[in-house]
Amino acid sequence: MGVRPIPTRHVTADSPAPLKPRRPTVVLGTFKGGCLKTAFAVAVAERLAWAELQVLLLTSDAQHDARFRLGVSPSDPQTARVVRREGGVTVRGVHPSKAVELLYGSGPGELKEFQVVVVDTAPVEAAGALPGVLLVAPVDGADAARNLVSLLRGTPENTEVMLVKYHHLDKKSWAKAAKAIADASKVEGLLFLPDPVPPARPIRDAHDDGVSVWDLPRRGNTKLFLDAVETIAEHAWQRVCPDKAFPAMPRRRVADAYVQGWSDDEDA
Ligand SMILES: Nc1ncnc2c1ncn2[C@@H]1O[C@H](COP(=O)(O)OP(=O)(O)O)[C@@H](O)[C@H]1O
Ligand SMILES: [Mg+2]
Repeated sequence: MGVRPIPTRHVTADSPAPLKPRRPTVVLGTFKGGCLKTAFAVAVAERLAWAELQVLLLTSDAQHDARFRLGVSPSDPQTARVVRREGGVTVRGVHPSKAVELLYGSGPGELKEFQVVVVDTAPVEAAGALPGVLLVAPVDGADAARNLVSLLRGTPENTEVMLVKYHHLDKKSWAKAAKAIADASKVEGLLFLPDPVPPARPIRDAHDDGVSVWDLPRRGNTKLFLDAVETIAEHAWQRVCPDKAFPAMPRRRVADAYVQGWSDDEDA
C-alpha cells in the first residue's frame, strides 16, 4: 500500500514590518523613579504645544502627577486640555494596555485630533519596549545606568533612544558613561544630550506647586533644564514636521529684577 504526501499550502505570514505608532511618539521611560520622567514629559508636551501642535499626553501614573503639573485638579474630568498659543496639551490617564491600543491600533481612531503623543511611564522595564518611538531615558546615578542597560536590551530596533543625564557631572565623564551604556546595551546609534541637567530648586517647586516651568525665570540651572527640554522637543518636532523649522518659544515677560550673585541662584 502506498502513501502519497500532498503539498502543503502556505498562508501569508504576518508582515515582518516593524510596528510603528500611528502618531509620532515620545516616551519618557526608565526603570527607576525620581529621575524626572514626569517633569520632562510635561515640559516637553507643553513646549510642543507652544510650537502650535495638538499634543496628547498619556500618563500611566496612578497619582495623576502629570495632570496636576498642568494645573488640572483631581475633580476635573479624566481627560483635560490646556491651551498654549494655538496648540494644546490634552492629558489623559490610561492603563498601559489601553496606551498600547491607542498608539498602535489601526486607523487614526482616538488620535485623530492629535499630531504628536508624549507618554509618561511608571518605572517599569516594559517602558523601553514600545516600537518606533523616541525613547527619552533620564539617568541619575550608577544604579539608574545599570537598570537602564537591562531596559534597553528589550528595546526594539526601530526605537530611537536618547539619554539625558540628571544631576551634576562634568561633560567628559558623562560622554564616557553614555558610551559605556551604549556598549553594554548594544543599542545602535544611541543619542545623548551632552550637557548634564543639574537639580534646580525652581523646577522642583514648580513641579510640586502645579506651575508651568515655562513661566519661570530662564536662568541658571532652570535654564539648563529648559535647554534640555528644548532639545528633546525639537527632536520630536522633526518627527512631526521634518521640513519645517521648529518655531521659537516666546520670550517671557520679564518683570522681576535679577542680579547675578545677589538674587536666588538656585540648586535643589
Ligand atoms: N529639575 C529638577 N530639579 C530638582 N528636582 C526636580 C526637578 N524636576 C522635578 N524635581 C522633583 O524630583 C522629583 C521626581 O521628579 P519626577 O519628574 O516626578 O520623577 P519621575 O517621574 O521619574 O519619578 C519630584 O518630587 C519633583 O518635584
Ligand atoms: Mg513620574
